[in-house]
Amino acid sequence: MALTSPENFNSNYLRDQVMQTYDQVARQPEGEYHFHRGAEYAHTYLAYNKEELTHIPSDSSDRFAGVGNPLLIGDNTPGVKPLSVGETVLDHACGGGMDLLIAARRIGETGKAIGVDMTKAMRQQAIKGAKKSGLGDIVDIREGVYESLPVESESIDVVISNGVLNLAPDKHVVFNEILRVLKPGGRLFLADVVVQRELTLDARSNPDLWAACIGGALVESELTELAAITGMVDGRIVQRFNCFLNTSAEQHVAKDLFVHGVNFYARKPE
Ligand SMILES: C[S@@+](CC[C@H](N)C(=O)[O-])C[C@H]1O[C@@H](n2cnc3c(N)ncnc32)[C@H](O)[C@@H]1O
Repeated sequence: MALTSPENFNSNYLRDQVMQTYDQVARQPEGEYHFHRGAEYAHTYLAYNKEELTHIPSDSSDRFAGVGNPLLIGDNTPGVKPLSVGETVLDHACGGGMDLLIAARRIGETGKAIGVDMTKAMRQQAIKGAKKSGLGDIVDIREGVYESLPVESESIDVVISNGVLNLAPDKHVVFNEILRVLKPGGRLFLADVVVQRELTLDARSNPDLWAACIGGALVESELTELAAITGMVDGRIVQRFNCFLNTSAEQHVAKDLFVHGVNFYARKPE
């Protein structure tokens, strides 16, 4: 079970590593990393709409490091309501803000787009991106962690999440926060890394492997389980992405474990 980290897991070390990595990505998005980044990757590997990407300033899109395409869930999943004009959306670890800005353009000036992130350099880029795209009035970037969101209860129509659940030592806490902030009937559009079989205890105990987005990845079936335990309904995987194709992560572990990205949908009951 990967829903919580093993006993004695060094969560503080993990958080420091994650912050350092994404501080570096924010400052030097063109550097060498074990994961893909940027708009071209988003279009080619994750089926992002090319036209929508042209509206996103490079301050945000160069720093995109997601593993799936959360907004696509609302676009092409039967029975799921897409993000709509006037809604309030939260990206609970928004990084440079690419998903948030795409969402903000869709909800328009009567909506509200809140982005939370713990890494200052990422928040600064997200704010820059929002201003440059003329969305500064509806985008609100906040400092915080997704384990304790600086967001009012039952205030959000759609929570989006891309590539970050795997980094949480306790996934129950993250899902409980999502449930708290969603309005009744609110939707979760989540993308994350999953594995096909449980890792060894050694791998699960290695914070460096967690920081590489693999050590904390859920076994695929656990996502649906987690949503159900939390009290969400309709939980299901709706798309898959080969997000590590042609990266160093693929060469080392991804092929063996079939580590890949999924889009996952769930809803808070009415
Ligand atoms: C893999 S990136 C994904 C960012 C964004 N969702 C995207 O698709 O580009 C990881 C981001 O999650 C943030 N992050 C990691 N753990 C977090 C936490 N506990 N609370 C808030 N943000 C966190 C990091 O600061 C970093 O900006």
